[in-house]
Amino acid sequence: MVVIVLLKVSQLSSLRVGFYAKSCPAAEAIVSKLVRLKSRYNPSLPAVLLRLHYHDCFVAGCDASVLLDPASGYPPPEKVALPNESLRGFEVVDLIKTVLEALCPSTISCADILALSAREAVLLAGGPAWEVPTGCRDGRLSSALLAVISLPQPQFSAIQLKNNFLGHGLSDEEMITLSRSHTIGFARCVSIWDRLYYYNSTTETDPRINSAYAARRKRICATGRNLGMIVPFDPVTPFKFDNMYYKNLEEGRGLLLSDQVLYDETVSMLSRNSTEWEKRFREAMIHLGSLNVKTGLQGEIRRNCRRRN
Ligand code: HEM
Repeated sequence: MVVIVLLKVSQLSSLRVGFYAKSCPAAEAIVSKLVRLKSRYNPSLPAVLLRLHYHDCFVAGCDASVLLDPASGYPPPEKVALPNESLRGFEVVDLIKTVLEALCPSTISCADILALSAREAVLLAGGPAWEVPTGCRDGRLSSALLAVISLPQPQFSAIQLKNNFLGHGLSDEEMITLSRSHTIGFARCVSIWDRLYYYNSTTETDPRINSAYAARRKRICATGRNLGMIVPFDPVTPFKFDNMYYKNLEEGRGLLLSDQVLYDETVSMLSRNSTEWEKRFREAMIHLGSLNVKTGLQGEIRRNCRRRN
């Protein structure tokens, strides 16, 4: 009996490409279609969905804990933590989940919806495609405190960034490769104020920022006002997953201090070889999507991504 149960758990306990091929064959196509459909009306959605998956995986593993709403009897969840306050896209995940629940009840996890959406997001923005190993289950725990501890901050030094990624089992190279995701999407002014206005006691603005670029950013991100303003990471092609991230950094047009710090370390090596980077990015995304996953009999398949069953 014990042997049979153990066998069953081990059979179920690894992720694999095509996990839903029998139980819900249309699942992956439906996720792709809905992400594409919603992105038609909101070109910033791919960046939003990619970040949602990454923030999920970095806090207690890829288990959709980032999607849980506050609930009585539970500690404040990840989504209310400061580093997560600008996360968006929850209603798109809700829509995908509703459609999949109608078609295949209690079958597709919210964690897999996040991973599949991120893949579609990158592809849609013109980035590389990869096959997503699925079979992750949803977690029942979500902690704002753990989110604060686990997510890297834009003010981190190179050592702090490396240690943070290493703590999640990701190498320096994977960190640099994945950070190229900042070629799409936007940051709030509040995320770059220290670089623009409070660099150190003698210099207001980080001297590594191109001065014309800094002046333009300051016009949009004036201190004390425009709290809700956002600026694109890549001012040239903000919705395109291209090589501009590295070029921008090379020319002093990076937004976050953390990006500049990474660039100063090794990014320039990678910027020259696009095919090599694509290969590494695919592998790094698959690794990211496997962090601390719950499989087999662990966790649950939530019926509503915002609530435990
Ligand atoms: C190296 C450590 C990282 C730091 C410190 C960092 C920090 C940030 C910050 C501060 C923002 C702007 C948030 C805001 O102001 O609203 C942002 C946006 C973003 N990040 Fe990162 N990030 C990191 C790594 C990553 C990785 C590994 C990925 C993807 C795998 C990623 C994907 C994104 C995307 C796509 C956006 C744009 C989101 C949007 O437009 O809504 N980031 N990140």
